[in-house]
Amino acid sequence: MPQAPQQHESIRPHQPIGPPGSGPLITFARSGITTPWSPARASLLDLAEACDVPARWSCRTGVCHTCITHLVAGDITYTNPSLELPEPGTVLVCCSTPTTEVVLDL
Ligand code: FES
Repeated sequence: MPQAPQQHESIRPHQPIGPPGSGPLITFARSGITTPWSPARASLLDLAEACDVPARWSCRTGVCHTCITHLVAGDITYTNPSLELPEPGTVLVCCSTPTTEVVLDL
């Protein structure tokens, strides 16, 4: 008798589909994924989603701070200057891109 597919099988984080980027390495520490940045990505959140790395978000414009993430290492720049920047050592992944290799607590 064939088995029914599991209903709640979660997708494991993986390398993004398509040609790899040529930018600095981005590490999602909790997910165990390291992948090169590509300028084709709009933000670090965009890259996380391409890897199925779990990330929380709401506004995607730097306002709500739902996407705030601990920046373990590296430097970023904001694509939309946020109205209220997060505390040092944290980053709004929805509206930031890396300027160096980056390690995120995701
Ligand atoms: S999702 Fe609202 S600040 Fe990033």
